[in-house]
Amino acid sequence: MDLKIAVLPGDGIGPEISEQGVAVMSAVCEKFGHNVSYEYALCGASAIDAVGDPFPEKTFEICMNADAVLFSAVGDPKFDNDPTAKVRPEQGLLAMRKKLGLFANIRPIETFDCLIHKSPLKDEFVRGADFICIRELTGGMYFGEKYQDNDKAYDTNAYTRPEIERILEEAYKYAGRRRKHLTVVDKANVLASSRLWRQVAKEMESKYLEIETDYMFVDNAAMRMIQDPKFFDVMVTENTFGDILTDEGSCITGSMGLLPSASTGEHTPVFEPIHGSWPQAKGLNIANPLAQILSVAMLFEYFDLTAEGKLIREAVNASLDANVRTPEIQVEGGAKYGTKEVGAWIVDYIRKA
Ligand code: IPM
Ligand code: MG
Repeated sequence: MDLKIAVLPGDGIGPEISEQGVAVMSAVCEKFGHNVSYEYALCGASAIDAVGDPFPEKTFEICMNADAVLFSAVGDPKFDNDPTAKVRPEQGLLAMRKKLGLFANIRPIETFDCLIHKSPLKDEFVRGADFICIRELTGGMYFGEKYQDNDKAYDTNAYTRPEIERILEEAYKYAGRRRKHLTVVDKANVLASSRLWRQVAKEMESKYLEIETDYMFVDNAAMRMIQDPKFFDVMVTENTFGDILTDEGSCITGSMGLLPSASTGEHTPVFEPIHGSWPQAKGLNIANPLAQILSVAMLFEYFDLTAEGKLIREAVNASLDANVRTPEIQVEGGAKYGTKEVGAWIVDYIRKA
C-alpha cells in the first residue's frame, strides 16, 4: 500500500517522540512492503514563532493531501503564563480538528499486566480493564460562542442533532465490534445540551437492539471509572467531558505516556498521543515514546492493516517485559532507557520479527 503521511511534531517533547513514531512506521512499512512517504509541517508554538499562525494554511494543505496525519503535541509555557496572548499553540490543534472535520476522537484505555502496579488504583480493580472512550471533538464548549471582558466571561456548550447523531453512530459501531455495551455519559440532570444528547440516544437505541445502552451522569462516571473500570466497554461523551475523563483514564493504565488516540471524521484522520507537550522534559530524552508508537499502530489498524498494528503492539509489550522503559515506568534498579533507546529497541524488534 502507498501511504502518504503528514508529520506534525509540534512543540516540547513532540519532535522527540515524533522521531520514534516515524522510525517505527518506517520499519513496519519496510517489513510489510508498504511504500511510505512523509511530509513535515509546522503546528503549535513552533508555527507561531515561524509564521505567526498555530495551524498555517500550508500545514492544512499538507494534511489534506495526506492519507493520515501523525501528530505529536503542542503547547509552550510562554503562552500558558500570558493570559493576554492573542494566539495560542492549542488553537493550532483545535483548528486542525475543526478544519479536518475530526468529530470522533477514539481513546482506548487498557492496562498492561506488567504495569498494573504503576496505577494508583488497587490491582484487583484495574487488572483487565479495557474500554474505549469516544469523545466528540469538534463541538461543545471548545467551539461554541465565547465572550470575555473584565467582569464577565462565558463559553457556550452548543450541540446540534446531526452532531450528536453522527458521534453516537460511531460509538455504536465500536460497541458492535466489542462487548456490545455502550454507556452514554452526560449531565442531563442539569444541562440542556446533555438532555438533547440523551433524547437523541434514546431514539437511536431501537436501531441497535443488539447493543446494551446505558446512561450515566458524568460525575458518577468519573467515580465509576475509578471504582469499577471494568464496567465500561465503550463510553461516548461530549468534548469537554471526554477531555477530562480520558486524563483520568490514564491513571488506570499508569502513565499518560501510554495512551494513543485516533481522531477521525470527514477528512484525513489524525493519530496522536493523548498527552501534551511536557515542556519541562524537552530535549532531555526522558519522554515515553509509547503513546506515539501505539498511535502508529492505530494508524495501521485504521487502514485495516491489522498484522502491522499487531506487530507494533507485540513489540511494545516485549519492550515492557524486557524492562526497556523510560524512567517514569521503569522498575526499581532497572537500566536507564531514554526516548531514543526505547524507540530503537522497538524498531530492532520489528526488523527481527
Ligand atoms: C487533549 C488536550 C487538548 C484538548 C488541548 C491541548 C487543547 O488536552 O487532546 O486532550 O483539550 O483537547
Ligand atoms: Mg486533554
